[in-house]
Amino acid sequence: MNETTIRPHINRELLSKTQIARRINELAKQISADYKDQEPVLIGVLKGAFIVLADLARALSVPHTIEFIAVSTYEHGGQASDTVRLLMDVRRDLNNCHILLVEDIIDSGKTLAYLVDLLKARGASSVKTCVLVRKQREQVYAIEPDYLGFEIPDEWVVGYGLDYAEQYRTLSCVAAIDPVEK
Ligand code: IMP
Ligand code: MG
Repeated sequence: MNETTIRPHINRELLSKTQIARRINELAKQISADYKDQEPVLIGVLKGAFIVLADLARALSVPHTIEFIAVSTYEHGGQASDTVRLLMDVRRDLNNCHILLVEDIIDSGKTLAYLVDLLKARGASSVKTCVLVRKQREQVYAIEPDYLGFEIPDEWVVGYGLDYAEQYRTLSCVAAIDPVEK
């Protein structure tokens, strides 16, 4: 049975498990080449990036370390809040590090812009970003990801780490659900 038919709220698969795996491997190859001799610190943005980080990191052929940071932008299933809140910080000094920030999605761009500024202020030698999906909409906060998996339509998506009200994060595809009020 197709995974998307199991859950009543999910109506369309946008990215299949196979498509995602293929793209993650391509990005990992590119990142491994770009970070040759640099031992990047991969920083996953919780909670959404936990799956993309796990798959991407395991496909890298260069030594790297893993950190997590947690922020909150949307709460209670899609209410946009005005400011990004830092909920949990990394556990190490980032001075002189080559950081690769790994994020699930760019919607307005607010979260990623906030995090890049925050990490640059920590004295990192470089801060780059790897994002699984970007919504095709006007990005209020102009930030161009260094590595991007896919462009997707401007609608609420779930799966592969992405949630709706904390549900569906472990779906192995990315699927659209009915629009939610923001
Ligand atoms: P931005 O700051 O507006 O770019 O929003 C980014 C954050 O909002 C992401 O890290 C997600 O946690 C959340 N988000 C935005 N759009 C979606 C979506 O379609 N599905 C699930 N989470 C989303
Ligand atoms: Mg997120």
